[in-house]
Amino acid sequence: MKTIGDVAVEGRCVLVRADLNVPLDNGRVADDGRIRASLPTLTELTGRGARVVVCAHLGRPGGREDLRYSLAPVAARLAQLLGREVSFPGDITGQAARAAIAASGPGDVVMLENLRFNQAETSKDDMSRGYFADELASPADLYVADGFGAMHRRHASVYDVPLRMVSVAGYLVQAEVGALRRLTAEIRRPYVVVLGGAKVADKFDAFGSLIARADRILVGGAMAFPFLVARGLKTGTSLLEASQVDAAARYLEQAAPGQIELPSDIVVAAGMAADAPHRVVPADAIPADQMGLDIGPESAARFAAAVGTAGTVFWNGPMGVFELTPFAAGTRAVGQAMTGGGAFTVVGGGDTGAAIRALGFDEKAFGHVSTGGGASLEFIQGRTLPGLAALDAS
Ligand code: 3PG
Ligand code: MG
Repeated sequence: MKTIGDVAVEGRCVLVRADLNVPLDNGRVADDGRIRASLPTLTELTGRGARVVVCAHLGRPGGREDLRYSLAPVAARLAQLLGREVSFPGDITGQAARAAIAASGPGDVVMLENLRFNQAETSKDDMSRGYFADELASPADLYVADGFGAMHRRHASVYDVPLRMVSVAGYLVQAEVGALRRLTAEIRRPYVVVLGGAKVADKFDAFGSLIARADRILVGGAMAFPFLVARGLKTGTSLLEASQVDAAARYLEQAAPGQIELPSDIVVAAGMAADAPHRVVPADAIPADQMGLDIGPESAARFAAAVGTAGTVFWNGPMGVFELTPFAAGTRAVGQAMTGGGAFTVVGGGDTGAAIRALGFDEKAFGHVSTGGGASLEFIQGRTLPGLAALDAS
């Protein structure tokens, strides 16, 4: 893979596609992990005198300008972390952006507004994406792919722009690919995959290929509920993607006995609030008016034991609503087991990375903390990520 180390950048306009999709809290960046992860590439480019244009998305604003999803707070945080001004013209390919780019000099940084304010970014129509990609590419001399977390998306800025111009990988992407490759071949076994989180639909089709690759798949978070329902259990008012129940049943059938492990106890409460009275119930006795918000202590201990004796662990998705203290224990237990054993450990995903940081884990205690959730999950299944396929081969 060609990287920024292989190309001249001084005085050139370099378009960097980053993944700066970070959680916001009241208009402020709540976890800046993905911004920090983008610094090595941006620092190198500015240091070498490139004129840097950063483009990224935030959330899913649905193709129209919605200022709740503005990248303005992200630009401000990036400026703090870089220790230099980041100009934020407030549009993507319009007059203001053009003017800011034209006015930039060596070492300057311009950040464009949320790419997903334009419906063409995520369009299924090649022409529509292509037209937008032409506009994005036009002021730039070089494209740098550094938004690993979005590289599984066939989006204009991820896929179509690099097809149009000289394109290389940034240091984040290089590091991600280097680490994640260890989960695609000659895997040290037992290979344990831990899956959780709330974005169930995004990740559910990973089970098919993970069953063929992993020795054990431990399932927590909202991801567990379609499986519990497929087993004939009731999940009360828990967050449930009912459309996934049939698939869950198929996966249980496809897997070897015991290969997919589900929680046997659940922490339930009437609502998702830190002060809601909560208790632990067996997974087959979730009351009709309660929702599951974490895996229970027995499940956490069982998952931790499996992780502790693994050779390789990949973890995507928290085990519960870790942001609320009463529902953080399952996620903490998995994190502790991952940092305490001798396995090669990978944590993947914006939320999971945010979870380990919020719970006070040292990122260095893991083998690799990936900025990509869906992207890392697709990569370890051996799938070709559109954003990687579009880069120039070296
Ligand atoms: C993510 O957070 O998963 C990436 O930034 C990609 O975002 P998306 O899932 O909305 O495409
Ligand atoms: Mg995603």
